[in-house]
Amino acid sequence: MTLGTDDDDNRTRPDPANPGPSLGPGPRTLIPAPRIRRRVRQLGRILTTALAGRSPLCITLLDGCFCFAADLLRSIAIPDLQVHFARASSYLGQTTAQQTPTLGDLPTVSGRHLLLLDDILDSGATLDALYRTLTDHGASSITTCVLLDKSGQRRVPFTADHVGFVIPNRFVVGYGLDYRNRFRHLPDICTLEP
Ligand code: IMP
Ligand code: MG
Repeated sequence: MTLGTDDDDNRTRPDPANPGPSLGPGPRTLIPAPRIRRRVRQLGRILTTALAGRSPLCITLLDGCFCFAADLLRSIAIPDLQVHFARASSYLGQTTAQQTPTLGDLPTVSGRHLLLLDDILDSGATLDALYRTLTDHGASSITTCVLLDKSGQRRVPFTADHVGFVIPNRFVVGYGLDYRNRFRHLPDICTLEP
């Protein structure tokens, strides 16, 4: 068995055409962990009410959503909830969306009430494409929830039903979000630029 290296993941390779943000002195806290925790619990209560009486299927977009989903889902008090992990990536070592998102395999969604979770709503391209696909596949309802919303950045008009925090147009990392697969482990949401 051979173990992969960082270079097997093209998100870690520098792109000469897009060197990314200047890293400055290091990540700076934008939203501290206790504030994230409070807001995520609050979203959990809101979604518990919004989805009450249903057996929702939660579609969680990896990789950036892993911390948010882990915390949020444990705050949703609904007995019959299924979780599916999907991938939709438009960021490949870049700090601006460069590609049309590729959507991974989807489960059967026909007739289901869906909860669609993403880490951050930026250009809107990812969630807009996924929302259309899920609608085409016959979902009964789709509730969207994102941790962060860079509302000034939309290329595609898309509004999430539930938003953790609206943030300025800064590249952020931490609490699952990465820059070239780094900084996902930081407990706070941080900006990289000086
Ligand atoms: P959109 O399709 O442009 O809305 O992009 C959404 C995806 O881009 C998110 O799910 C993130 O994975 C990624 N993304 C957008 N902004 C940031 C950021 O500031 N930091 C890290 N990832 C980001
Ligand atoms: Mg993402």
